[in-house]
Amino acid sequence: MERVQLLIQNKKISILKASDLPLFYIHGSGCDATLWLKQLEELGGFAVDLPNHGKSDEFKIESVEDYAEIISEVIKEVSGSGIIAGHSLGGAIAQMLYLKHKNVVRALILIGTGARLRVLPKILEGLEKTPLETARFVAEMAFADKRFVDEFSKLFAERSKILHKDLKICDKFDLLEDFKAGKIKFEVPTVAIVGDKDLLTPVKYSQFFTNYGARLVVVENAGHMVMLEKPEELNKVIKNFLKELH
Ligand code: COA
Repeated sequence: MERVQLLIQNKKISILKASDLPLFYIHGSGCDATLWLKQLEELGGFAVDLPNHGKSDEFKIESVEDYAEIISEVIKEVSGSGIIAGHSLGGAIAQMLYLKHKNVVRALILIGTGARLRVLPKILEGLEKTPLETARFVAEMAFADKRFVDEFSKLFAERSKILHKDLKICDKFDLLEDFKAGKIKFEVPTVAIVGDKDLLTPVKYSQFFTNYGARLVVVENAGHMVMLEKPEELNKVIKNFLKELH
């Protein structure tokens, strides 16, 4: 595994590279590329630190579109196009890449995400007013496997500012009516994967995608953070999906 740095718009984007497989993992709110270590180790590919996260530089980001713009440039630079695995906010970015930068997307793996990602007002307000408590509340909601809660309460508390910014961006993201109106259909292979105990992006959000060309896989006994809670199961689903692409 190696760290690779790309210059995008004269600023640094940092990537964890495990192999040349053009599979790009996009993390969710307040996280970073290291979230995907278990996938990188077993499956290979590239995990990106989003702008303003991990070891990447600061960029002006106000929306999912802004993230997608930067990621499209990353993908073009690395391999021209690729398979996009996005989690939560990363899944919103994957959808936006497909909508606005179709030529970089060969296939989509939408993990614990949705066509609309409204956020509980209690979380948005709490991260500003009572960040410690709210970081714990978010971590409690994020994991069905409670062994991770202490570690992520701490991490989300340390990153409460960027977590808040990301969740505000999620709250504005809304493609629901465009899907319903038939304006969006998945014309590349697409699988939606979600934990059966996901409280932040419930199964029905992923189920929704099946009306528009996606296949659904529900991972049992997993919450929102399926890549950490059930890595073997998630990796198996991704492996099978990759096999079908050939
Ligand atoms: N895909 C499919 N359907 C969706 C959807 C999605 N992404 N988001 C909302 N909907 C549907 C709901 O199922 C509901 O349908 P119904 O009326 O048939 O039950 C309808 O749209 C209205 O949704 P609702 O959840 O009541 O309102 P909302 O979208 O305004 O959500 C919240 C407000 C914050 C209460 C709710 O989104 C929620 O509980 N979110 C989970 C917690 C959270 O903060 N997650 C963070 C995600 S990053």
